[in-house]
Amino acid sequence: MEKGLFIRDIQPGMVVTGLFCVASKSMRQTRNGIPFISMTLTDNSGNMEARIWDRAMEFDGLFSKGDIIVLHAEAVEFNGQCQLKVNDLKPLGQDQDDIDPAMFLPVAPVDRDACWKECEKAMRGVKRPEFRKILREIFSNPETRRMFCQAPAAKKMHHAYIGGLLEHSLNLVRLSSEICRLYSHLDRDLLVTASLCHDIGKIREFSWARPPIDYTDAGRLLGHIVMGLRMVETAMQVAGLNYDSRDLMALRHIILSHHGQREFGSPVLPMTEEAVVFHMLDDLDAKLNFLSGLKAEGREPGWTEFQRLFERYFFLRPRTPAGLAQEEEHSGSQVQTKDNGGEGPESGHPVQSKLF
Ligand SMILES: [Fe+2]
Ligand SMILES: [Fe+2]
Repeated sequence: MEKGLFIRDIQPGMVVTGLFCVASKSMRQTRNGIPFISMTLTDNSGNMEARIWDRAMEFDGLFSKGDIIVLHAEAVEFNGQCQLKVNDLKPLGQDQDDIDPAMFLPVAPVDRDACWKECEKAMRGVKRPEFRKILREIFSNPETRRMFCQAPAAKKMHHAYIGGLLEHSLNLVRLSSEICRLYSHLDRDLLVTASLCHDIGKIREFSWARPPIDYTDAGRLLGHIVMGLRMVETAMQVAGLNYDSRDLMALRHIILSHHGQREFGSPVLPMTEEAVVFHMLDDLDAKLNFLSGLKAEGREPGWTEFQRLFERYFFLRPRTPAGLAQEEEHSGSQVQTKDNGGEGPESGHPVQSKLF
C-alpha cells in the first residue's frame, strides 16, 4: 500500500491523505465540554499533532495508539505549528502485512540491496564446506533472509533502525576481512561466518512491523545469543553436520562469547584468538555507530551532554572536507536516519562496562 504524504512535506493549507502511525492518542474536552481527540502521528520523517473535532466519540473506538491509519485531513496552522484537522480515518488491520516498516521507522543510511549482495559475495568466498552449509541452511530460507535485511540490531543506541542488523553484520564481514589481511594466521572463514550469524537471533529478538522497535516476548525471555545458537545448531542438524566438529564448536563459541563478559549476556568468555578478535570488532562497530548517531542527531561540533552509559562526555570534532568526501564515497546512496526514541537498557552490545 502506498504511503501518501510524508509528515516533513506537509504545509498548512494542504489537503492530506496518507498512512500514518498513531504515536499517542487521548480524549479531551473543549472549554464548552465537547469531546475531541488529540493525537500525535508519526512516520519516518517526523511527528505531527492532529485533532478530531467532529464525531470524536464515534472515532474513538475505531483505533488505538500504535495503529497505522489511513487519514484524510486538512493541514492548518495552530500556535505557529502545522497541525492536522482530521476529516476521516480508517485503521489498517494488524494482519495487513504489505506495509513496509521503513515508512514509519528510521532506516539504515546504506543501500540495503547492495549490502545484501555483498553479504552473498562474502558467503561465496567462504571455502570450508561446514561453514558454507551452515550459511546456506540459514540464509536460503526467504523469510530469514527478508528478516535479516529488515531487522534492527537494537531497540536503541546502535544500528537501531530498519536494516541495522544487515549493516552491522556486513561491517563485521568487512572488518574481519581487513583484520585477516593484517593477521594472516586468523581463520577468515570462521570470522566471516560468525559475522553473518552471530546476531541472527535478533530477527526473533525484536519486533519492528509497527513502531516502535521493541523486544518480542522471546527476545526478552531468551535473548538473541541463545536464539541464534539454536538457529545455528538446527542448521547443523538439518545439514547433517557433526555436533562435535572443532570448526563448528569454534563458531558456536563466538556466538556465545561475542558480548565479551558474563554480565553482558555471554555465558562464556572469548577463549580463542578469533573469539577475542570478534568481540573487539563487534564492540568497535557498535560504539562507532553510537557515536555517529550522536552526530546524526544534528549536534554541533563540541562537547555532547554526559553519556551515562559511557560515563563520559564526548567531544565531537568538526568534519573535515576530506572526511566528508570519504563518507560519501563509502556510504553510497544515503537515506535519512534518526534515533527511534526507544527506551530501556536491554541488549544490543556491551558498551564500555554497560549494556546496550
Ligand atoms: Fe549480540
Ligand atoms: Fe553484533
